[in-house]
Amino acid sequence: STTEEQLILEAYQWLAKLYHHLLYHTKDGKKGLEYLHQRGFSDDAIEKFQIGFSPQSRDFIVKFLEKKGYHRQLMVKAGFLTTNDQINYFDRFRGRIIFPIRNAIGKTVGFGGRSIDNQEPKYLNSPESELFQKSKLLYNFDNARSEIRKRNEVILLEGYADVLALYQAGVMNAVASLGTSFTDSHANILRRYVETVVICFDGDTAGQNATYKTLKLLKKVGCNVKIAMLPNGYDPDQYIQEFGAEAFRHTILDTSASEMTFLISHLKKNYNLNQEGDRLRYVENIISEIALLDSSIKRDHYLRELSEQFSLSYEALQQDLAVKMQNSK
Ligand code: UTP
Ligand code: MN
Ligand code: MN
Ligand code: MN
Ligand code: MN
Repeated sequence: STTEEQLILEAYQWLAKLYHHLLYHTKDGKKGLEYLHQRGFSDDAIEKFQIGFSPQSRDFIVKFLEKKGYHRQLMVKAGFLTTNDQINYFDRFRGRIIFPIRNAIGKTVGFGGRSIDNQEPKYLNSPESELFQKSKLLYNFDNARSEIRKRNEVILLEGYADVLALYQAGVMNAVASLGTSFTDSHANILRRYVETVVICFDGDTAGQNATYKTLKLLKKVGCNVKIAMLPNGYDPDQYIQEFGAEAFRHTILDTSASEMTFLISHLKKNYNLNQEGDRLRYVENIISEIALLDSSIKRDHYLRELSEQFSLSYEALQQDLAVKMQNSK
């Protein structure tokens, strides 16, 4: 017998196909397609990610699904219909570009809908359910999995658009968390496949802060972490659109910073280094981070750097580090 979950999966598959078709074959969809092309997304990428468009119509989708034999309650449960009055049901994603979100085995379990007319929210996602758990899903993981394993490295991005842009740039081992923050479930999933995670979040304060939190979660599960930093105000997609794929690969990815290099610069923001007290507290903070490094060669390297940069005695820093390492045991 067919379970409810199977029905919902099947409906998601139908709907993803329909949305994709509507993007190319309707007047409404044409707006969406023009928007995507204008942003530099190719038909190849649109096809690969099965990007679609949901028309403005309130009942087009409802009628389509009913014709397929699906009950409204199920469709409400699946998350693609909503209602205000339990009588009139309409498409949650109407008027939006549709990014189908697939689970690890390639089944569509949710949608991300982007507005193209400045309507808020910018992205509307499927509601949480048994099938659609944002804390466990990574966008593009199904496509990227083999490449991730082959390279023993994954590039972690913020957004759907960034994943598409990297795909077009020939980078096939990239995934994105779905807007909510990166979780320890995400970290555990990635750790099963790779040693190294390259975090490449947006070049803004939110992106930097998220990088710090994500770095900590990834270290906790034993990943090696590198940070690909973007100039202020750019996300990976914008960077690639403006400077090209070559520049992104060579200037951003190949020059990824080590975790300590990132921390040294990131943690500075919390201190006023012109003041002696703050300067010392900053050094203490960095030593705490050095204490967490897993190799004595690395610890020694950054301790020497710190000693030189702040004209502090290497021996004193060493003693401090020893105490911190003792305490953290
Ligand atoms: P961003 O705001 O960085 O958007 O959010 P973006 O990916 O660069 O999108 P474009 O380029 O403007 O189209 C990063 C991710 O956070 C989630 C989405 O998954 C998005 O890709 N998000 C963002 C939401 O879920 N809802 C929002 O309202 C905004
Ligand atoms: Mn097609
Ligand atoms: Mn962002
Ligand atoms: Mn962004
Ligand atoms: Mn963007």
